[in-house]
Amino acid sequence: MGKPLARKCSQEVGFGLLVSFIFCLVLYSLIYSSLLGVNNGVNLLVNKQVHPIRIVKINGTEHPCSDRYIYIHEGLPSRFNYDFLNNCESLTAGAMTVSNISNMCPYFVNLGLGPVIESSEGVLANESWFSTNQFLLEVIFHNRMKQYECLTENSTLASAIYVPFYAGIDASVHLRDPNLTARDSSAKDLVRWLSSKPEWKKMWGSDHFFVAGRVSWDFRRRRDNSSNWGSKLRFLPESVNMSMLSIEGSAWKNDLAIPYPTSFHPKEDSEVVQWQNRVRKQERPHLFAFVGAPRARQKNSIRGKLIDQCQASTNCKFLHCRKNNCDNPVTIMRVFQSSVYCLQPPGDTSTRRSTFDSFVAGCVPVFFQPASAYTQYLWHLPKNHTKYSVFIPVRSAEDLKEGDIEKVLLGISKDRELAMRQEVIRLIPKLVYADPRSRLKTQDAFDLAVQGILERIGNVREVIREGKDPSIGSAESDNGKFTFPKTNTNRLY
Ligand SMILES: *[C@@H]1O[C@H](CO)[C@@H](O)[C@H](O)[C@H]1NC(C)=O
Ligand SMILES: *[C@@H]1O[C@H](CO)[C@@H](O)[C@H](O)[C@H]1NC(C)=O
Ligand SMILES: *[C@@H]1O[C@H](CO)[C@@H](O)[C@H](O)[C@H]1NC(C)=O
Ligand SMILES: *[C@@H]1O[C@H](CO)[C@@H](O)[C@H](O)[C@H]1NC(C)=O
Ligand SMILES: *[C@@H]1O[C@H](CO)[C@@H](O)[C@H](O)[C@H]1NC(C)=O
Ligand SMILES: *[C@@H]1O[C@H](CO)[C@@H](O)[C@H](O)[C@H]1NC(C)=O
Ligand SMILES: *[C@@H]1O[C@H](CO)[C@@H](O)[C@H](O)[C@H]1NC(C)=O
Ligand SMILES: *[C@@H]1O[C@H](CO)[C@@H](O)[C@H](O)[C@H]1NC(C)=O
Repeated sequence: MGKPLARKCSQEVGFGLLVSFIFCLVLYSLIYSSLLGVNNGVNLLVNKQVHPIRIVKINGTEHPCSDRYIYIHEGLPSRFNYDFLNNCESLTAGAMTVSNISNMCPYFVNLGLGPVIESSEGVLANESWFSTNQFLLEVIFHNRMKQYECLTENSTLASAIYVPFYAGIDASVHLRDPNLTARDSSAKDLVRWLSSKPEWKKMWGSDHFFVAGRVSWDFRRRRDNSSNWGSKLRFLPESVNMSMLSIEGSAWKNDLAIPYPTSFHPKEDSEVVQWQNRVRKQERPHLFAFVGAPRARQKNSIRGKLIDQCQASTNCKFLHCRKNNCDNPVTIMRVFQSSVYCLQPPGDTSTRRSTFDSFVAGCVPVFFQPASAYTQYLWHLPKNHTKYSVFIPVRSAEDLKEGDIEKVLLGISKDRELAMRQEVIRLIPKLVYADPRSRLKTQDAFDLAVQGILERIGNVREVIREGKDPSIGSAESDNGKFTFPKTNTNRLY
């Protein structure tokens, strides 16, 4: 009886009749549940490739797990992840943040979300706000992954292999070590371990991925000169085959950007909706705002000019970050919630966490380089960036003339301003990482990242199926990512 039913099911799928497919699966589950056991509404079934299929119920609808199974490489030695949690006193926060919190321990609580913000001074909602350290994205992601609905313990069935390596924290320990052997040693140990495992052989690592709460450049030291920045991790041959998801991608196609963690980690959809309603209604007395510090030592930094322009305008709010005054999300969110536009110039690198704070505050971001967002967060932000942001291309600081920013922003119609803000607010759930202890009905930043990486690895698998070399392109760089589109004129707007 099993075989004809299997054929029937695969025919139905061939005709795209999803309803029948689900009906077949349910029928199948009734037949096999007694054999395989059913737990908590999770059914193990056999499909036409003789691979088990699990059906998960999300929001009342059933989603098959086929092609979405992920295997967590939990056998990874604890020195690559859990030991950092246990030895958090030795991780100095100074190397990680500008905070006055002297070590990393407080940030590891609440599954990596950090301490709950107790006194939000009416600026934040009462719950689901945390002092989150951006570097702990790797811990948050790991904890979310443990709750992923389509995990498998059988790696041969997995579409992707997640390596729970805390890449950024690991790098931070030796990043400033002049001894390059010491700086690169754990990266080398990691790839040696991974490539010795049976999982590696299946696709030579191209189904493996890991997450880093640091920018890609921290892992891309090209030359063995101790005055050069970063570890060599991403240039090790094994690492080239893997994908890295991090807060800022590099020019290489195997480094993919996902949002910085903000301080908002909702545990229910209703919290997100309430927050969206709240920022939608917010009074915004300032036309624009800048929160940050100048980069006096960077010759071509536009920050100094932006600060001058902001201070010269009665329409602009400037919050100068020094010492610890920008550590508290309340301080930043208060400014962003009362501003229509938030300036997001590059800092030490192209991207900033502040960009995501401004989305959460319903403040329309203003970008000056495509690499600050448009060429980075391809899975999370809409293709058409005019819908949610203002672009003021500034190739070089000299191009920026007095009053330029205000002139551009004042020139935007109220209708367009409103439409952009609606879009920014609509994007909030997709850009935040929900509390790993629960799950939302809508897709959050984690869900979109998982969807993106599965698609990417699926494409590689397709290339292998066609008999081509999957490594072609994975190590290529895309220099267009960090340059300005050719069609732009030198005028500002
Ligand atoms: C950090 O600074 C805040 C505000 O200035 C203060 O309340 C807190 O006690 C400080 N924490 C530490 C560990 O010094
Ligand atoms: C937060 O809690 C306080 C005191 O419990 C309450 O008065 C206030 O309305 C709450 N604010 C929000 C936004 O829920
Ligand atoms: C894993 O799945 C493969 C393919 O279905 C199967 O041959 C193998 O027996 C499974 N391994 C375990 C440990 O269940
Ligand atoms: C550099 O580090 C390696 C590994 O930690 C160590 O064996 C070596 O002695 C160090 N070299 C120097 C010059 O300190
Ligand atoms: C390493 O870099 C520094 C600074 O860029 C340079 O002065 C030095 O010559 C370099 N050393 C080697 C061995 O290339
Ligand atoms: C990387 O992938 C390519 C092709 O998929 C393979 O030939 C190569 O051996 C892999 N490298 C390592 C170090 O496994
Ligand atoms: C992008 O969005 C803007 C604003 O909604 C719209 O006017 C424009 O036509 C869109 N461009 C494309 C290529 O869809
Ligand atoms: C889940 O269901 C709620 C209400 O039942 C609906 O508003 C929401 O859009 C659904 N989400 C998804 C991802 O389908």
